[in-house]
Amino acid sequence: MSDIILRQVGLPGGGTTDIGISGGLLADPDRLQPGDQIDASGLILLPGLVDLHTHLREPDADPAETIASGTAAAARGGFTAVFAMANTNPVTDSAARVRGIQARSQSSSAEVVPIGAISQGLAGLELADIVGMHQAGVTVFSDDGHCLMNSQLMEQALYQVGQFHGVIAEHCQDHDLASARAWRPTGGQQSAEQLSTQPMADPFPTISGGDEDWPRSAEAVMVARDIQLAQATGSHIHLCHLSTAESVDLVRWAKSRDLPVTAEVTPHHLLLDHSMVMSGDTTFKVNPPLRDIEDRLALRQALADGIIDIVGTDHAPHRALDKTLPINRAKPGMIGLEYALAVVIETMVLPGLIDWPILIERMSVTPAKIGGIADHQGRPVMIGEPANLTLIDPTRRQQVDRNDSLSLGRNNPYHGLDLPDPVMATWLNGRLTWQHEALTDRRAGGPRADGS
Ligand code: DOR
Ligand code: ZN
Repeated sequence: MSDIILRQVGLPGGGTTDIGISGGLLADPDRLQPGDQIDASGLILLPGLVDLHTHLREPDADPAETIASGTAAAARGGFTAVFAMANTNPVTDSAARVRGIQARSQSSSAEVVPIGAISQGLAGLELADIVGMHQAGVTVFSDDGHCLMNSQLMEQALYQVGQFHGVIAEHCQDHDLASARAWRPTGGQQSAEQLSTQPMADPFPTISGGDEDWPRSAEAVMVARDIQLAQATGSHIHLCHLSTAESVDLVRWAKSRDLPVTAEVTPHHLLLDHSMVMSGDTTFKVNPPLRDIEDRLALRQALADGIIDIVGTDHAPHRALDKTLPINRAKPGMIGLEYALAVVIETMVLPGLIDWPILIERMSVTPAKIGGIADHQGRPVMIGEPANLTLIDPTRRQQVDRNDSLSLGRNNPYHGLDLPDPVMATWLNGRLTWQHEALTDRRAGGPRADGS
């Protein structure tokens, strides 16, 4: 791993500097041999991004993603750490399975932190071995993909993680409210207005009563329940991928009382809305569904105000055969790692809702803290800190092409859009894990990303 010096690089809070990377750490450039250099004028050096919500799919049989492909996509998106959700096959619900994922991700392009299941097999019936998984290094537990519906089991899980200051990350979906409608031809993705104005060729009797198939109330009741349980137990609950203005109001209430509650929004809920689903393109089918334009605005404002603490990608690659189905049978989910930063710049930074230091809080510092890895990720850009970094060009743009991806997933909801193209390079502990071709002209004297 050779040393490198970034010349005239911008700092997130303003100003420029020369800074080196050596031995896995940020280093004083005057102490390094002049060799490999990057002319970084006009670029900004950020701490590497941290994603608390990634689906890497390995070790599924015939996986829609692998740890290698998913972390390559992560590096390209500027991430240096990803938390791997437990809804794999087999489920990550024991210490042995946690160790298996740790072993498989030794040389990956981003740090992989396993999330442990809350319930055995995600079945929601019995708790998984939370303490055993914690002893193997897990601090975040989630049944994501499913909501843990049994409130008493959830309370027990919160008590257990409270013993070691762990976190329960909840997928808030009351399955009773949502599933009664989910068999309809839209697969639970249609809004009330669409149901009333566009009658579907529905072989089953309508029971939705004009409400949404996957109604917003199905999210709100679980957000409210979980806030109450966090209050009762004193343990930390993290609310994944919030999608509605009502959820934001409930989290605001929790924060006004200093309850141990944090919340997350995805890039796709910041940028997209439910009108996209009606194109019939199953790429836009996701849990929770894309909602209204007013929800999108409320989520953006909440992220700016800190009511929502972090962006989590919910990167959910699927095989083409699982998406080329009628919408009620297609799998929910969309990829997100490569475009998360682009979407946050587009929806939050360019309109002036947040600046670079706040972006760093929402996409690096706070997710690292929630996930318990803040000793080496989400660190300030300072000499002596671990070189987990992303170098960005805030002005570059791109037309997104779903085939131009390091993920194995092609379920890219941004295909065809004009978005920022920020990530110039990513370093994981001083190792270059991604380099944009546009950086080539700025580099002098050292090896290329491909080692040439
Ligand atoms: O759309 C989704 N896809 N939401 C989830 O919660 C799970 C995810 C998946 O695993 O595909
Ligand atoms: Zn989820």
